[in-house]
Amino acid sequence: MATAKKAIHFPLMENEESKSNGLHPLKDLTKRITEIFGPSGHEQLVRDFIRDEIKGMVDEIRVDALGNLIARKKGTGATPRKKIMLAAHMDEIGVIVTHVDEKGFLRFAPIGGVNPINLNGSRCRFANGVTGVFGREVKNTSNTEVKLDKMFIDVGATNAVDSTIGVGDAAGFWRDFADLGDRIVSKAMDDRIGCVVLIETLKQLKKSIDDVYFVFTVQEEVGLRGATTSAFGVQPDLAIAVDVTGTGDTPEANRMAIALGKGPAIKVKDSGMLAHPAVKNLLADTAKEAKIPYQFEVLVGGTTDAMAMQTTREGVPAGCLSIPTRYIHSPSEMVDFNDVQNAVKLLVATLSKAVRLE
Ligand code: CO
Ligand code: ZN
Repeated sequence: MATAKKAIHFPLMENEESKSNGLHPLKDLTKRITEIFGPSGHEQLVRDFIRDEIKGMVDEIRVDALGNLIARKKGTGATPRKKIMLAAHMDEIGVIVTHVDEKGFLRFAPIGGVNPINLNGSRCRFANGVTGVFGREVKNTSNTEVKLDKMFIDVGATNAVDSTIGVGDAAGFWRDFADLGDRIVSKAMDDRIGCVVLIETLKQLKKSIDDVYFVFTVQEEVGLRGATTSAFGVQPDLAIAVDVTGTGDTPEANRMAIALGKGPAIKVKDSGMLAHPAVKNLLADTAKEAKIPYQFEVLVGGTTDAMAMQTTREGVPAGCLSIPTRYIHSPSEMVDFNDVQNAVKLLVATLSKAVRLE
C-alpha cells in the first residue's frame, strides 16, 4: 500500500531538490514505488502506480490474465520490426497467514525467499493497512537459530474475533525509504528499483528503431510466473531483465566480484541461466562506447525473469542488467544511486540504435 507518511530528510544539493520533499526526482520515484504494498499475487497497487506514471508515453498498454503490465513503444524502423522485451518484476517477497490462534497471534508461510534471520522484531503490513510485528517462541528458539514455523505475527489483537486479519491474508515487510546520499535503502528494492529503471528508460528514450515492450511482471519471487506467460505472449526477438544481484563488498561477505557504485552489472551466469553471449556483449560494448561503468556478474544462488524469457517458445536470446544490492530479501535493501542512473543510461544507449546481435 502507498502511505502518505511525513519523512524528515537531510538537505540535499540545491539543484537536486524537488519541490515536494527535497528528494531528487528519481529518488522520490523510488521512495514512492518501494513503499507500495505488493507481495507476489498482490501487485495491483504497484501496477496502478506504474500505469499512471507511463500512460501517455507509450503506444499500447495492456494487462494480461496473470496481471503483467505490458506497454509497447513503437519503433521507427520499417515493418516487420524486431521486438525487444524489457522485464522488471512488480512483486516483493512477503508472508501469508496460515492460522490465527485464540489470542489473535498469526502463524504464517513465506511468499518467496524469506529468511527468518531478517524477521525477529521487524514489521510487516497487510493490504488493509494493519501493521504486524514478527515475534518468536522464546522457549523453542535461540538468538542464533530460529525457523519460520517457530515465529508468529502480532497485530495487536487480543483474540481471533477481534483481528481484522485472517487465513489467506498476505503482508509485505514494512520499512520506509531512507536517503543516505549516494546510497539509498528501502524494502522491496527487489525489484521496484528495476521498475524505476524501466520507467525512467521509457521517459528518456526519445526514439527507437525496434518496438520496445516494457513489461512489469508479477509473481517473479514464487517462480518467474509472470515472465513465463508475458514472454510467451509478446514473442520477443531479444529479451533483457532488469533485477537486483548480490555483492561481495561487505565485511566477511561471500566472495563475489560485485560492489556497490561500480556500475550496473551485466549478467554472465546465475543459477538459472547462461546469458546469451551476444546479448552480454551488446550491453558491454554499448557501455564501453558510451563510457558507462559496468561490472560482469556471476551469481551463484538465484535467478531472474531472464531465465523464463530465454526458454519461452523456441528460445529467445536473453540477458540481464542487474542493480548491485546489499541485504537482498531483508526489509532494508541498499543500492547505489549512481548504479541506478547508469543502468538507465546504458539501456537508453542500447535501445536508441537498431539492436542487432552479432
Ligand atoms: Co527477489
Ligand atoms: Zn528480484
